[in-house]
Amino acid sequence: MSPPFHSFHLHKLCYAFMILLPGVTILTATAIRTNNGGNETDRLALLAFKEKITNDPQGVLRLWNDSLNFCDWNGVQYGRRHRRVTTIDLESRGIASTLSPYLGNLSFLRVFNLSNIFQGEIPLELGRLFRLEILDLNGNNFEGKIPSTLSRYSELTFLSVANNNLVEKIPDELSSLSKLTNFQIHVNKFTGGIPSFIGNLTLLETMSAAYNHLVGSIPDAFGQLRNIMAIGLGGNNLSARHRYDASSSSTPAAGS
Ligand SMILES: *[C@@H]1O[C@H](CO)[C@@H](O)[C@H](O)[C@H]1NC(C)=O
Ligand SMILES: *[C@@H]1O[C@H](CO)[C@@H](O)[C@H](O)[C@H]1NC(C)=O
Ligand SMILES: *[C@@H]1O[C@H](CO)[C@@H](O)[C@H](O)[C@H]1NC(C)=O
Ligand SMILES: *[C@@H]1O[C@H](CO)[C@@H](O)[C@H](O)[C@H]1NC(C)=O
Ligand SMILES: *[C@@H]1O[C@H](CO)[C@@H](O)[C@H](O)[C@H]1NC(C)=O
Repeated sequence: MSPPFHSFHLHKLCYAFMILLPGVTILTATAIRTNNGGNETDRLALLAFKEKITNDPQGVLRLWNDSLNFCDWNGVQYGRRHRRVTTIDLESRGIASTLSPYLGNLSFLRVFNLSNIFQGEIPLELGRLFRLEILDLNGNNFEGKIPSTLSRYSELTFLSVANNNLVEKIPDELSSLSKLTNFQIHVNKFTGGIPSFIGNLTLLETMSAAYNHLVGSIPDAFGQLRNIMAIGLGGNNLSARHRYDASSSSTPAAGS
């Protein structure tokens, strides 16, 4: 017996929507069928993410259930072509949780914005999200260090782990984030010096590392940051030797 039409329709709600879009041909339907594996991986990853939640005062994730296709879950956006999760944006919902390593399976994720009450360590598996362009973990309670696996983000333009409880050195591996324009690590407990590789991230427009436990001097290599508009380094124990030269840039660099 074939399933009643309405249940098919509900279950395939978002696929049906795509098929009805003007200009979408039968090719899309074929692509949809062959992509079911990826789809299920994303669904499992989102459910694993939800499973870790210990407090959800606004009930945001209560709506993440099978009564809706997961492409319509709150805070989740989808790529039309691959039907894979491209965005998770769950800012300021007061959600308390730890990050599931399953998130590393959302291999089409481009934007991850999470300002809530997440704690524990940033899982190494997050480094598998090689398509990420924006990672905004600002304002949680993350502990431990920045995993060196975050260096695999060749498309990353925005990285913020500001306002957490992260420790240890800024990892040298981050020198590979060559597309980075915004780098925010302020208000943590980072130690060690400011690495000179930051001078090689020449697309940087803002860099804030204020209110950590950083020591030493500002690397001369900062003079290579031609696009920099703002640097914040106050609230550390940096020596007064300001030798970086922003005078060749038309936009003045803001001091710390
Ligand atoms: C499941 O989600 C729907 C909305 O998508 C919501 O109306 C319903 O209350 C949820 N079910 C449970 C058991 O929370
Ligand atoms: C997803 O990630 C988890 C944890 O990293 C792993 O155990 C699991 O096998 C992965 N694959 C799928 C298809 O869920
Ligand atoms: C993340 O969300 C917050 C709150 O809506 C917003 O202020 C912030 O700009 C977003 N981050 C990025 C990188 O877009
Ligand atoms: C900066 O880039 C130059 C040229 O690619 C390279 O030789 C140097 O080792 C890099 N410096 C750091 C600190 O990564
Ligand atoms: C700051 O650094 C200087 C020299 O590196 C050191 O002598 C001093 O004790 C440090 N101060 C604090 C508060 O850590």
